[in-house]
Amino acid sequence: MTHAHLLEGRVAVITGGASGLGRATAELFAEHGAKVVVADVHDQRGAETVQAIEKRGGGATYLHTNVAVADEVRAVVQMAEDTYGKLDIMVANAGIAGPQKHLEDVDDDEMRLVFDVNFLGIWRAFKYAAPAIRRAGGGSMTSTSAVSGVYTMGGIKRGVYTATKRATNVMTSYFATELAPDRIRVNCVAPGGMSTNITENYGIPQAASAAAPPPLPTRKLREFGTANYPICDPLEVAQVHLFLNSDLASFVNGEVIVADGGGFSTTVAAFFPQALTGESQQ
Ligand SMILES: NC(=O)c1ccc[n+]([C@@H]2O[C@H](COP(=O)([O-])OP(=O)(O)OC[C@H]3O[C@@H](n4cnc5c(N)ncnc54)[C@H](O)[C@@H]3O)[C@@H](O)[C@H]2O)c1
Repeated sequence: MTHAHLLEGRVAVITGGASGLGRATAELFAEHGAKVVVADVHDQRGAETVQAIEKRGGGATYLHTNVAVADEVRAVVQMAEDTYGKLDIMVANAGIAGPQKHLEDVDDDEMRLVFDVNFLGIWRAFKYAAPAIRRAGGGSMTSTSAVSGVYTMGGIKRGVYTATKRATNVMTSYFATELAPDRIRVNCVAPGGMSTNITENYGIPQAASAAAPPPLPTRKLREFGTANYPICDPLEVAQVHLFLNSDLASFVNGEVIVADGGGFSTTVAAFFPQALTGESQQ
């Protein structure tokens, strides 16, 4: 598929840009003409991402950036302005799965870490990017949440993770209202299952290396009620970050867009009619 260059002349910072969805977004944005600053803690994969972009003629740079450290987030925004002259786009995407445990088995430190990265990390990215994007005359920001932060999914022992994602949804919508006068749109992407390095803890087959995500079989959207939660190539979700940060989404602001291939409605919601009629859920 060929695309017009949707981000020609734009400069973007992508947190968690070394792997999975962040990497797919970095590569896609570069393909669409953006200069990309990859912000991550995985230096090797960060370097690989930059190399992959440069190999295809794009412009990218990497900075070690722990989103749990305010000064490092501030520094990556500064680097974008110093290197490329401005910042137009922030993709606040870095996230960790955190512990897969029952409520009573999660301790304070585990809880704080997941909130520090998944929620406060996005808040810091928004906070330090906003003045730079304002200086550029406006732009956009997106966060990465999760479908489980939109619909509460029981039984996955991820109460902390889903709480950070629900909080991200609300925060993203809220800051859209605060930043609208500055011509900064703020939206959220809530993915379903993606084949990335985070999914090892979900028991989902994962990419051996973020540098070479496994080719996924071509698949159709599933019929209502069919089993197995769908897992996608992160590129399919990166395309939503692209849309939301492009002028195509000029009238979209403060929204949480679920991209899960219909997984929630076709897998989870399908059980409700069966439950109501007392039929087997198998
Ligand atoms: N994979 C899924 O099924 C899925 C589903 C819903 C939402 N998400 C969300 O998508 C986002 C991207 O995750 P992914 O699936 O691509 O996983 P991934 O592990 O492949 O990529 C996440 C990246 O974030 C980086 N990172 C982790 N902690 C960091 C920190 N403190 N500072 C900076 N970078 C940090 C990692 O090094 C990694 O490169 C996350 O917010 C995740 O919660 C993933």
